[in-house]
Amino acid sequence: MKKILILNANPDEDSLCNALAYKYLEGAKKSDYKIKIVNLRELDFDPILHHGYNKVQELEDDLKEQQELIKWCEHLVIVAPLWWGSVPALLKGYFDRVLLPGFAFKFKPDGKGWDKLLTGRSSTVIYTQGAPFFFSFLFMGDAFWKILNKAVLDFCGFKPVKRFALGGASKASEKKREEWLEKAYFLGLKGY
Ligand SMILES: Cc1cc2nc3c(=O)[nH]c(=O)nc-3n(C[C@H](O)[C@H](O)[C@H](O)COP(=O)(O)O)c2cc1C
Repeated sequence: MKKILILNANPDEDSLCNALAYKYLEGAKKSDYKIKIVNLRELDFDPILHHGYNKVQELEDDLKEQQELIKWCEHLVIVAPLWWGSVPALLKGYFDRVLLPGFAFKFKPDGKGWDKLLTGRSSTVIYTQGAPFFFSFLFMGDAFWKILNKAVLDFCGFKPVKRFALGGASKASEKKREEWLEKAYFLGLKGY
């Protein structure tokens, strides 16, 4: 039975992302997957990696548990809004603190490349943005997706990484929101 971990990364509970994450969960539960959801806003951790990789920063209990959950899952679903072209600081802090060398990747001793330590897992990124999708694609070089897909998830070994991108989310009609929520439900149902 597929093990799915949902990272619900909008700091605001009253958000479209939050609703999408819980619709995905609802769908996945119908299909009997083993599924866990983490509301990042409820975790107790310092999102600042104070010394980069130069000093070890002790992991809070909540982050130790996050590493266990990431190892446990076979499919990671990240639900996040696009803020300033990237992810909210809460999610960025989560990446900085959780995806550490020795856990998520390991540079090779000869300096030539790295080992991806989280291989064998796939991922889906569900994200919302104020601008229409084509705007990010044409004028922003699809930067958000490149960062999430290439610089973070593929770097650590997640493959394949898929996306469900919702443009024009700030002003979406009720009908559109319902369509998106239904899609999130079906993604969950299929464990996609
Ligand atoms: C701090 C902040 C920065 C934002 N930056 C962008 C941006 O760079 N591009 C964009 O299209 N929308 C931007 N938005 C709009 C959000 O992407 C949009 O409100 C969100 O995706 C709606 O989903 P939600 O209800 O889950 O928050 C920003 C919103 C906030 C609060």
